[in-house]
Amino acid sequence: MTEHIVTSTADGVLQIRLNRPEKKNALSVAMYTAMADVLAGAEGNSSVRVITISGTDGCFTSGNDVADFLAHPPTGDDSPAIRFLRVLSSASKPVIAGVNGLAVGIGVTMLLHCDLVYASDSASFQLPFVNLGLVPEAASSMLLPRLMGHHRAAELLLLGDRFDARTAHEIGLVNAVLPAAELAAVVQDRAAALAAKPPASIRMTKALLKREAESVPARMAEEGKYFLRQLASPEAHEAMEAFMQRRKPDFSRFV
Ligand code: COA
Repeated sequence: MTEHIVTSTADGVLQIRLNRPEKKNALSVAMYTAMADVLAGAEGNSSVRVITISGTDGCFTSGNDVADFLAHPPTGDDSPAIRFLRVLSSASKPVIAGVNGLAVGIGVTMLLHCDLVYASDSASFQLPFVNLGLVPEAASSMLLPRLMGHHRAAELLLLGDRFDARTAHEIGLVNAVLPAAELAAVVQDRAAALAAKPPASIRMTKALLKREAESVPARMAEEGKYFLRQLASPEAHEAMEAFMQRRKPDFSRFV
């Protein structure tokens, strides 16, 4: 376990909180492992009916820890990040995300595997995979165009610019945008409402809703191959070293 993931369960709701504010809640190998273990444990635990995921004040997560990408790159299907995504995307119980600030990379793609997503009006979103010399993950290359059409998805994935909560709502990534001070209470309220409903009916309804997403594992595996190849590439190394050295990357020498 790691102190960077804080969990608690009460009244049928398992709360998972990302808690590494000094690094903008960047996700380390230990954090992915802890979250995957907690989600896997929730499957067989009848006292958990709903799961919530949130960050700290003003920050959901800045995505994968870039230093970890260099020091402990994922090597295959059994890497902690991929296991986390697999467990999240196949969770049988409803998952609600509360995005109260910055959401970057996997901080956005994990939302595609949650059932309800609420954001604060100050939240911002970014899919900077290409900027890092990488490719999309979490089947986002399939789920984003499905959600918003090719052109909008291409804009987000190819340019990798930041977008605000209003845009995230318009494109269907979040259910509602709320004042930051109300976000946690609304997430808790929705979680309590779901926890009070008949659990088998909820699980079956979620499973039926997810039937359209049956091709998610295959797309994740395909993305994973490109991702690992790119992670080892000079393009990605230039991008990540530039981030760590707080300079602009220079991709001009690559063909
Ligand atoms: N991985 C590792 N460290 C990260 C990080 C990440 N994803 N995001 C932030 N940090 C660290 C910074 O290096 C900095 O550490 P330091 O204080 O030891 O120097 C600290 O968190 C604060 O970040 P900082 O960049 O100073 O905050 P900011 O408010 O100016 O910018 C971000 C926040 C998230 C926009 C910026 O940090 C960023 O772009 N991070 C990288 C996001 C990313 O590319 N994620 C991977 C997606 S695949």
